[in-house]
Amino acid sequence: MELREKAKDIFAWGRAQRTDELALTWENHSKGAASVAERLAEKAGMDKDLAFAMGLLHDIGRYRSVKTGMNHIIYGYELLMEKGLPEVARICLTHSFNPKEKVQILELDDPEKTEFVKQFVMGAEYDDYDKLIQLADFMSGSHGITTIERRFCSVLSRHDLPEPQKVLRKLYELKEYFDKKCGVENIYSLFKDELEEAAIRGIPGDYREYKKKEER
Ligand SMILES: [Fe+2]
Repeated sequence: MELREKAKDIFAWGRAQRTDELALTWENHSKGAASVAERLAEKAGMDKDLAFAMGLLHDIGRYRSVKTGMNHIIYGYELLMEKGLPEVARICLTHSFNPKEKVQILELDDPEKTEFVKQFVMGAEYDDYDKLIQLADFMSGSHGITTIERRFCSVLSRHDLPEPQKVLRKLYELKEYFDKKCGVENIYSLFKDELEEAAIRGIPGDYREYKKKEER
């Protein structure tokens, strides 16, 4: 089976494991990241099917539940290793750590797994696919494609983010890298329709979902 189809199958299986209402935001976010990754990859002369699969499955570990927290990265990694997709499994771990040093404060439920992820990430040399998904992750929110700025604010409104300036600067570096790699002034021009819609959508959907969660 082609990678693209295999990725869609795995995602559909994961999606079916979740019946809570927040699963839809996870689905929208994953599909949005897949579209961003695919379009940028095509422009940048990278493998667009691989990029699509990585975008779609980077958060697949959330199939377990809405409350996995950071544990989703290791659940996703383990699932995709089992499925024989090590290249994509790697993304489950690397996409969350930019800058890399962020991994040092990681605490998963299982201390052994925490240690494994730390060693894995610190030892990894980020390639263009790792970078692509780090960027795509921040260009997709709970309704799909959005700007880094909007996603970043949404994340800030929901989580305590240590050293937020550092994270934002890293994201802008990534964006600049892909502006150049894609040969455009601004990669946002490749997502004009989606971004126009996102800009007038009201408060970020992620934040709305967060409030709902808090109210329960
Ligand atoms: Fe994500």
